[in-house]
Amino acid sequence: MYVEKIEIPSFRVLHDVVLEFGGVYDTQVVPLGSENGGGKSTALQLIFVLLHCSAEPSRHAYLQNLLASDTGAWASDQKVIARLTIRIGGESYALEFLSLSNRFLAEKLESPLIAGFDGERKMEMARSSLAQVREQLADLEQIANLPAESQAEEIRQLPWNSRWPRILQAARTPQDVAQSLSYEIAQRREAAKQRNVEFEALVADWQRTTGILTALDYKYITTYRGTPPTEQQARALVCRAPHLGIAKVEELLSSASSKVFLLGPSNQQYLFLHRDARKALLKTKQRPETTKYPAAPTQKQRPQIEYLTSLDEAEGAMDGFYAYDWLSVEPLVRLFLSARDEDFKNAVKSGHYGNRYTTLQEEVNNLLFGKKVRPRVNLSGNVAGVEFVITDESGAETLLSPEDLSQGELKRLMIYAWLRANSASEALVLIDEIEASFHPDWQVGIVRDLHEWGPKNQYLLATHSYELCQALTPRHVRELQPRLRRSEASAPEVKEADAGHG
Ligand SMILES: Nc1ncnc2c1ncn2[C@@H]1O[C@H](COP(=O)(O)OP(=O)(O)OP(=O)(O)O)[C@@H](O)[C@H]1O
Ligand SMILES: [Mg+2]
Repeated sequence: MYVEKIEIPSFRVLHDVVLEFGGVYDTQVVPLGSENGGGKSTALQLIFVLLHCSAEPSRHAYLQNLLASDTGAWASDQKVIARLTIRIGGESYALEFLSLSNRFLAEKLESPLIAGFDGERKMEMARSSLAQVREQLADLEQIANLPAESQAEEIRQLPWNSRWPRILQAARTPQDVAQSLSYEIAQRREAAKQRNVEFEALVADWQRTTGILTALDYKYITTYRGTPPTEQQARALVCRAPHLGIAKVEELLSSASSKVFLLGPSNQQYLFLHRDARKALLKTKQRPETTKYPAAPTQKQRPQIEYLTSLDEAEGAMDGFYAYDWLSVEPLVRLFLSARDEDFKNAVKSGHYGNRYTTLQEEVNNLLFGKKVRPRVNLSGNVAGVEFVITDESGAETLLSPEDLSQGELKRLMIYAWLRANSASEALVLIDEIEASFHPDWQVGIVRDLHEWGPKNQYLLATHSYELCQALTPRHVRELQPRLRRSEASAPEVKEADAGHG
């Protein structure tokens, strides 16, 4: 999948964004520049989450968080979040993602809705409240069938209803207990009937709501709410494509979800995380005074672990997301394990071990300057980790653990390993702050690296690196508003209207 055009009319800091990527270049590395706060990270995260999460209900929470962060949407009945023209299987499709309010629905109907886009949440609440009453009714009916003498004791065992002790105290004989019991049963039967009517009404309401979307060829994705959540604020995210039916839109969203990747640093705000987790990133609190750490202005305790845990969960739920400086060599270990498995499969099939494992080792060695990788194998023969070896002129070896590598070395290696381990091919790869911790030569080199590692991928790199942009011709570079200010005197001459340097 490639993206041919990105249009974001208005989303948080982004306004009237139009990025075009020309015809389909075989390989595209496109640096995306802007001043600080220009919206690069926002744009990458929006594109990623829309394409990666829409087809997967288990990822909808990330869409909901991201959309809820766009405070500008609440006043509008219908807002275009983004228009993404993607190319899949040699064809181009313009996917339009819209956010709709209940007022949008109201205009299409003669009689009002009960819940509209708040329907799913309300149905869930009504369903669980109906189930609760039914369970209580079943408990009581079971007790009513027991001999009268044992009923009081059985009622006492029930884990629900704090009124039981009072009821049982007032009931002096087993007949009194039986009478209270039948009163409670009658009450619950009435409540179950009532709640069932409410639930059925919500189901019908939801059918009307989704019926309007279906009639318009809008693929319903999810509903989301603002903060603090209020009923009026429930909105829906839908997707449509001109002249295409819902089934085709579903198929496109599903194909796109496995062909888009986002890599970024772990210490930045990800709008798709829950608001509370995002707040945790910026928190500091005073370390409680202990004899070991007397209170002092510098004794801060960092509660960012909450944020990192959410980031970890996000990586688990979204296959295409990777916080590349989360300094773990797990992607490289995974790669060696899968190469070993492939070789074994080959041996079973043809009687000859394949050479994927050794080829991989050579490939990794070529990435490292002056070091060699050595997979660490445990007693059961599994790759359990990796080590790195430096050999000096006399042939003496120094063994390095992953934590002995530099930040930049590890980051470059992990980007390579993660992209390979996740089979990122013919995919849109979005990378934020790629130049961080890279020497200027490496900032130039990473463009060549990405070409080599995934020659059929399209890379969109949010960057401030002049060096990285210099590795490409100006026509590759895209810029977001606010554009980079260049002083008249020192401005480099840029021939193409849209070309700039990040
Ligand atoms: N609801 C909002 N509406 C408009 N702008 C917002 C909203 N919330 C945050 N912003 C602004 O959006 C900007 C954040 O944009 P983003 O992080 O995408 O920029 P960036 O180009 O990645 O910057 P950097 O180069 O510093 O990483 C900030 O300037 C922030 O103040
Ligand atoms: Mg940024």
